[in-house]
Amino acid sequence: MKTLIKNGTVVTASDTSKADVLVDGEKVVAIGTQLEARADQTLDAEGRLVMPGAVDVHTHMELPFGGTFASDDFATGTAAAAWGGTTTIVDFAVQTFGQSLRQGLDQWHQKAQGKAHIDYGFHMIVREVNDSILKEMDQLVREGVPSFKLFMAYPGVFMLDDASIFRAMSRTAENGGLIMMHAENGGAIDVLVKRYLEAGKGDPINHGLTRPASMEGEATGRAIALARLAEVAVYIVHLSSKEALDAVREARDDGAPAFAETCPQYLYLSLEDLGRPGFEGAKYVCSPPLRPKPHHDELWKGLVQDDLQLVATDHCPFHFKGQKDLGRGDFSKIPNGLPGVEDRFTLIFHGGVNAGRITLNRFVELVATAPAKMFGLFPRKGTIAPGSDADIVIFNPEVERTLSVKTHHMNVDYSCYEGMKVKGLPEIVMQRGNVLVRDGKFQGTKGAGQFLRRAPFHGTPAPERSAVGATA
Ligand code: URP
Ligand code: ZN
Ligand code: ZN
Repeated sequence: MKTLIKNGTVVTASDTSKADVLVDGEKVVAIGTQLEARADQTLDAEGRLVMPGAVDVHTHMELPFGGTFASDDFATGTAAAAWGGTTTIVDFAVQTFGQSLRQGLDQWHQKAQGKAHIDYGFHMIVREVNDSILKEMDQLVREGVPSFKLFMAYPGVFMLDDASIFRAMSRTAENGGLIMMHAENGGAIDVLVKRYLEAGKGDPINHGLTRPASMEGEATGRAIALARLAEVAVYIVHLSSKEALDAVREARDDGAPAFAETCPQYLYLSLEDLGRPGFEGAKYVCSPPLRPKPHHDELWKGLVQDDLQLVATDHCPFHFKGQKDLGRGDFSKIPNGLPGVEDRFTLIFHGGVNAGRITLNRFVELVATAPAKMFGLFPRKGTIAPGSDADIVIFNPEVERTLSVKTHHMNVDYSCYEGMKVKGLPEIVMQRGNVLVRDGKFQGTKGAGQFLRRAPFHGTPAPERSAVGATA
């Protein structure tokens, strides 16, 4: 099957050009002007941007948390991702406490196989470190699961001590893995949480007040210091605050391989949302928590200056009714996480490109190319080039629409962005040459998504100190 995408503006992380794209089977085979190949179908992209399918390297389908499970499974969550222009996810498999990494990984393969509409890879959440787990990490790297999330938060559930973190980091220095860190000081936060609850402060806003940015900054600095001691790179997940960004920036200024992502919720939503009247704030409970608004501009600056290398979602939805309300009267029992896998592409386009903060090329880099490079998927994913998978978004930058639970496809009963007006729509979304979304209809196939064996972490170029993505 040959598809010719004609008359569009092709945008990659490095180039913007008026060109046609020829797809043969699952691959892009040519990009050029006025390609006259005989094709089975022609898609007219006049007035549209033709961009790589986006890569979301931080999702939690069916994550067990706080006595319940994230409400999207691999079927619903990957369909929603495709609707939003994301054609690859990397989800977090979880080691059950006391069990091997293998058991956790097998469980995640079972959850995804036969269900995923788009291609997927896995990271592994490591909940304890011992000799046999360290050996298993080597094996996982060889199997194409070369990244491991560790937690400095949630004592008694996920949190590891510094010795365990240092041991795991030292191992990745040898085996080509990459440690991804949830950086919050869980010990201090837990003391605050108990104090607040004893004082009768159980409303959702207190989730934010008991997890101060200073404790994210402290943990981020500690994670980087441990990685430097182990002489290895580290990647900070869901970075939310200026304090944490400063720790990353300082390390990068010093030439250290410290990397970080942020997420749309930390660019758009704030502590004010956690303080919404009644129990509404529960819809916005995630960790690290939403910060006061002045953090937004700092994070955008981090994205422009490449102190933040990419945007992921941390998609981890829980219904308001029946899940978030497990924590009525006790914010510590509200399952942590927000929906977002469908919204990231348009939110970053809207707040980044439309608002004049970043270039089109930097946009593609943040949502597709950099995630693919960081997590061993490039050049198969994350770009449009001969030989790369034909994962393509034909994006109409002129469509004005309103984000709403009424129109989204994620399996969750609210939208964090309810009523927000945005400009831009992924009109046609293609994975490996197959059209998944077109004319407002879903044409994907459950189970067509393939497991992606990812390459070990090879490092990314040394930190650049110039503003790489600014529009002016
Ligand atoms: O609140 C969050 N972020 N939930 C998902 C789990 C995690 O820590 O990433
Ligand atoms: Zn986390
Ligand atoms: Zn997460």
